[in-house]
Amino acid sequence: MGGGIAQVAAAAGDEVLLHDVNQQFIDRGLRTIEKNLARSVEKGRLTEEQRGNIIARIDARPKWEDFDVEFAVEAASENVEVKLDLFRRMDTDTPPTAILASNTSSISITRIGAVTSRPAQVIGMHFFNPVPVMKLVELIRGLATSQPTFDAAHALAIRYGKVPVAANDFPGFISNRILCPMLNEAVFALYEGVGTVESIDAVMKLGMNHPMGPFELADFVGLDTLLAIMEVLYEGYGDSKYRACPLLRNYVAAGWVGRKAGRGFYDWSSGTMQPASPPNGAVHAAGAAR
Ligand SMILES: NC(=O)c1ccc[n+]([C@@H]2O[C@H](COP(=O)([O-])OP(=O)(O)OC[C@H]3O[C@@H](n4cnc5c(N)ncnc54)[C@H](O)[C@@H]3O)[C@@H](O)[C@H]2O)c1
Repeated sequence: MGGGIAQVAAAAGDEVLLHDVNQQFIDRGLRTIEKNLARSVEKGRLTEEQRGNIIARIDARPKWEDFDVEFAVEAASENVEVKLDLFRRMDTDTPPTAILASNTSSISITRIGAVTSRPAQVIGMHFFNPVPVMKLVELIRGLATSQPTFDAAHALAIRYGKVPVAANDFPGFISNRILCPMLNEAVFALYEGVGTVESIDAVMKLGMNHPMGPFELADFVGLDTLLAIMEVLYEGYGDSKYRACPLLRNYVAAGWVGRKAGRGFYDWSSGTMQPASPPNGAVHAAGAAR
């Protein structure tokens, strides 16, 4: 997500500092950006010169430092402690006028803002995957977020070619409060043997006109991210309807976290989505797909 946000910012003409704790992830992000831009050149949507200029505007910074930025967008792992630690450091190590945004899928913006000395300048800016393609940006005001901060994030989203939609600060906001319980319910349906990965995806694609089935989408989002969001919903609302399916927990424990790991509910090891061998522990309704 961080690489995708860097790409749209640089494509809109902004100078970007891209930081990650892990050099490998910076390299992977930059490779994806290069691949995306090369495809745009092939399709005639960008010139070679524009491609070069976009890449040149992204400056990778593997070490933490003073970041002289006007606007920071955090897109680290969906873990509250990681985010609180980052926001404390961003508060100290960016100019006091900078706006600090989080791409969190579910964590309270109010809670993140409260660990900084500038909660009025903290906002949720929730991009969607893949960032260069997806139009929506959910803008989440924490309790203390100011109107000028909201207006600045709104203007930035529009400059990045996105459609901003406002949401209030409750667990999962609008998008993931609705989407993640649906994905989790699909895992329960698999777990209980109501259908197979393929049959459940087929029902949701052909019957509900969803462009991707829930398992394909869950693999795309990342099962670790999906589980983390379910935990936030469960804890935030204190309601058992948000409990994560034990089978989802097992996939994450196995490291089968979806497309980025080469294996999730599908096998992605060849680079394309293929049926995966059924794991132990799921009830498989033989023939349900037929
Ligand atoms: N995957 C999605 O579809 C999606 C969509 C919208 C929002 N998000 C949100 O975006 C964020 C990132 O998600 P992702 O799917 O890109 O996750 P990811 O696991 O692919 O990437 C997370 C990155 O954060 C880095 N990181 C971890 N701790 C860090 C730290 N202390 N400082 C700097 N970097 C650190 C990791 O090295 C990794 O590269 C999460 O908050 C997630 O909820 C994800």
